[in-house]
Amino acid sequence: MFAQHLLALSGFAAAILFIFGLKRMSSPVTALSGIVVAGIGMVVALGASFLVVFDAAEPIRPHLAVNLVLALVALALGGGWAWLRGKKVEMTAMPQMVALYNGMGGGAAAAVAAVELSARGASSAMILAVTAAGALIGSISLTGSVVAWAKLDGRIRKPFRFEGQRIVNGALFLVTVLLGIALVVFFDTPALPLLAVLFFLGALAFGVMMTLPIGGADMPVVISLYNAFTGLAVGLEGFALQNPALMIAGMVVGSAGTLLTVLMAKAMNRSLTNVLFSNFGDAAVAGTDAAHGEMKSADASDAAIAMRYAASVIIIPGYGLAVAQAQQKLYEFVKLLQAAGVDVKFAIHPVAGRMPGHMNVLLAEAGVPYDIIYDMEDINADFANTDVALVIGANDVVNPAARTDKSSPIYGMPILNADQAHQVYVVKRGQGKGYSGVENLLFFQENCNMVYGDAQAELTRMVQAVKDLGA
Ligand code: TAP
Repeated sequence: MFAQHLLALSGFAAAILFIFGLKRMSSPVTALSGIVVAGIGMVVALGASFLVVFDAAEPIRPHLAVNLVLALVALALGGGWAWLRGKKVEMTAMPQMVALYNGMGGGAAAAVAAVELSARGASSAMILAVTAAGALIGSISLTGSVVAWAKLDGRIRKPFRFEGQRIVNGALFLVTVLLGIALVVFFDTPALPLLAVLFFLGALAFGVMMTLPIGGADMPVVISLYNAFTGLAVGLEGFALQNPALMIAGMVVGSAGTLLTVLMAKAMNRSLTNVLFSNFGDAAVAGTDAAHGEMKSADASDAAIAMRYAASVIIIPGYGLAVAQAQQKLYEFVKLLQAAGVDVKFAIHPVAGRMPGHMNVLLAEAGVPYDIIYDMEDINADFANTDVALVIGANDVVNPAARTDKSSPIYGMPILNADQAHQVYVVKRGQGKGYSGVENLLFFQENCNMVYGDAQAELTRMVQAVKDLGA
């Protein structure tokens, strides 16, 4: 009884710590402490889970010692591996790691469901249905996340598509759901083991099939969706087990994942169905008709000197900056400009790069202070009064076609108003298009010059050019 009260109390304490931690994660200044607070919440929740074992009902009691040892070994193995990997992981490999951990959460929820389905004698139909729903969602999240990891890690390089794929996937999903219903209906019959195996195989296969056709660049949205799935699965299993900490943690993860998915889709002006089913960003798409004139190239040193003598510069980083790993060089250049009295700001588009907060993480890694980094809505009005906009490895997020060309696939996507600056320099390797495959109208504008080359190499030239000018 005492353990039950303590369990409920610890669940509540863990929930408060999770929510407080999440709140602190919303600003880069407090994010680190937010992670620590949420981590303490997780320790509390884990400790509470052990109370359940001590308070276990008769069938589990004889196996208490074995269960405890197994749980501790699992904790040491999982925790140890995660700690080592977490210390070693490169910033650029962060999205894949998140995908993997997220998938494990879904897998854990599915495993709990499998144990529940095999161990519970006479559960109510409602609890069984909730358990099966959690198992379905958790299994999809597990294999879907593993495929997402493989795509982000470059292990699966091409989207896998075939004729009638949506019909096959739809049929697979339907059969799996029917198997789940059969599980609940025929729970007390000898058919249960076979039904359970087929149901889990169907759910795991669906996760793979659903994710394979989606392009690599859409994986951040997909990972975020699976994150929401994992949260939902954990919440459902928490309900089946009547464990408040699991329920609350699941709901927090589920709602945070859902919100992030919606925000990302909104920032790209795309629906979730479009992300999941439209094969966006594979091929060069239309949208070139509106592009007139030619792209004018400029030398890196000329661009650097123009910025050195400007009063204000706004820098727009994009995916190419991360590819070139040029964030340190960029900050070195910024410091030189600041020393010359130039007002330098960074403008961050919500989906610049390939994961939420990608550019913020990249700039933080280079030591760029937070107070010169601005979100899109806070800086967009400033471009018209700015001398130079420097676009580095960004493309879609500054394409005015999103504002003007109704036929463009990115029409309606909110963009950074770099085109309104008095002068624009764009650093990119060649005339290649961005992730959406759409021609960028900015590059053809009168006030725009292209600095062709790798971001790292061009920034090195810019730094040198400013240094050569002397104090
Ligand atoms: P992109 O539109 O992908 O453009 C990146 C540009 O960087 C390319 O045009 C490329 O041109 C250039 N580049 C690549 N490597 C480079 C290097 N080493 N040095 C210099 N330039 C290099 O990137 P963006 O503007 O950041 O936009 C992000 C896109 O991803 C948006 O369409 C967004 O919707 C999509 N997306 C983002 C997310 C999240 S959460 N961030 C999720 C899903 C989709 P060259 O090949 O000519 O060099």
